[in-house]
Amino acid sequence: MGELCIIDLMGRIVNKETTKYLDKKVKVCGWVNSIRSHGKIVFIDLRDMTGIVQLVCTSDIAKDIRPEWVIEVIGKVCKRPSKMVNPKIETGKIEISVEKLKVLSKAKTLPFSIDGDGYEINEEKRMKYRYLDLRRQRMKRNMIERQRVIQFIRDFLQKQGFIEIETPILTKSTPEGARDFIVPSRLQPGKFFALPQAPQQYKQLLQIAGIEKYFQIARCFRDEDPRADRQVEFTQLDLEMSFVEQKNVMDLTERLFIELVKKLYPEKKIQNIPFPRIPYEKAMKKYNTDRPDLRKNKNNPDLLAFCWIIDFPFFEKDDKNKWTFTHNPFSAPKPEFMQDLLKKKNIKNILTTQYDIVLNGWELGGGSIRNHRPEALEAVFETIGYRKKEIKDKFGHMLKAFEYGVPPHGGIAPGLDRFLAVLLKEPNIREVIAFPKTGDSRDLMMDGPSEVSEEQLKELKIKVIKKSKK
Ligand code: AMO
Repeated sequence: MGELCIIDLMGRIVNKETTKYLDKKVKVCGWVNSIRSHGKIVFIDLRDMTGIVQLVCTSDIAKDIRPEWVIEVIGKVCKRPSKMVNPKIETGKIEISVEKLKVLSKAKTLPFSIDGDGYEINEEKRMKYRYLDLRRQRMKRNMIERQRVIQFIRDFLQKQGFIEIETPILTKSTPEGARDFIVPSRLQPGKFFALPQAPQQYKQLLQIAGIEKYFQIARCFRDEDPRADRQVEFTQLDLEMSFVEQKNVMDLTERLFIELVKKLYPEKKIQNIPFPRIPYEKAMKKYNTDRPDLRKNKNNPDLLAFCWIIDFPFFEKDDKNKWTFTHNPFSAPKPEFMQDLLKKKNIKNILTTQYDIVLNGWELGGGSIRNHRPEALEAVFETIGYRKKEIKDKFGHMLKAFEYGVPPHGGIAPGLDRFLAVLLKEPNIREVIAFPKTGDSRDLMMDGPSEVSEEQLKELKIKVIKKSKK
């Protein structure tokens, strides 16, 4: 697992680097991880972002020190006697003989232990004190691994000529599958922004803008019930390319995952390369799911079984017996079904260019080749029962843009939180997100969502109707 490069700004040496300063005087800073008193001599394990280093001091210097206090120490780096060497930590061959110790900040007793992996601790408590929960080794590792994965993705895609573009967080509410979070507008009372469920429309508009290879580490928002693999706020690796076919997007995605695993997690084994490509119908018949866990041996924690699911039906009936899209209204049908779509016949059998990527039974990502013909896009909206006016209100901006020269394009968006959870063998994506929401989508640390002042509501011209108590 990962190296972290630390730049030392204040003449301070980070714990991991202290081994390079044998017999020299150093300044180190951090939290008191533990204290062991042996009469006149006290051992303190000092923790910083890079790990632990042992301090040795006299009991008078250490007399009031308590766990989790933040201290600054000046002392000499000494070799430990050979029988005192601790092979379990990187700095286990040395210790720092303390000359001066300054307390930078005191700490109350923590509400829970941060020594272990913490799975057994009540989750509400962990979330309420997330800044303490993140002090534990496992959580710190998860944050570091998350950054390494994101860094690899950025480097990989930039080498392939992709550019990263940020798209708006305040956007327009359009039906895209899940429920929108909406944000009231002060300057346009009675109107609302929506937070993006995904940057889908922006990334397509960027193709019309001539940005032929776009990507973004994109924050997405969906007001849906959380689960182990779902949060209301999550992160996608979102990408889109012009002048490509299904195979090109799938090949690029596959290469990205293979190279990432090889470089960052060489201990892991990818079960099948190339990733198997399974038609939806076959997956349903054989595995009774469109996200099969293909691992041959589920006891092997380092086995990664990726696969693709392709040839999904474009439309399905909703609970009101009306046609709706299975994935994304902007997808193109497979070319052999284009005529059927335009004529709105044979709806049930139209297949889409959608591809989903699955890893160890988790739906990791999905994408498609898009419908770049405006009349075909309109046919999709008509099939799902939108009237002309509704189409114009909701998607007029897209149809308008489609009048000005659209390159054929397609893309994909793997969920980063899910990918990291599988890689790091975590049962829940909350474990790989710094500040996730609880199971009922609250932020217990900040106490959100919260009420707002009458004044704020007034400015927005919003009235809250309180439920009457029976
Ligand atoms: P889709 O809706 O399939 O596609 O989402 C793609 C991937 O995003 C992740 N994901 C989530 N992760 C955590 N919590 C959630 N609530 C959540 N919802 C989705 C999953 C999922 O596979 N714009 C299209 C992509 C495209 O066509 O390019 C889209 O968002 O890993």
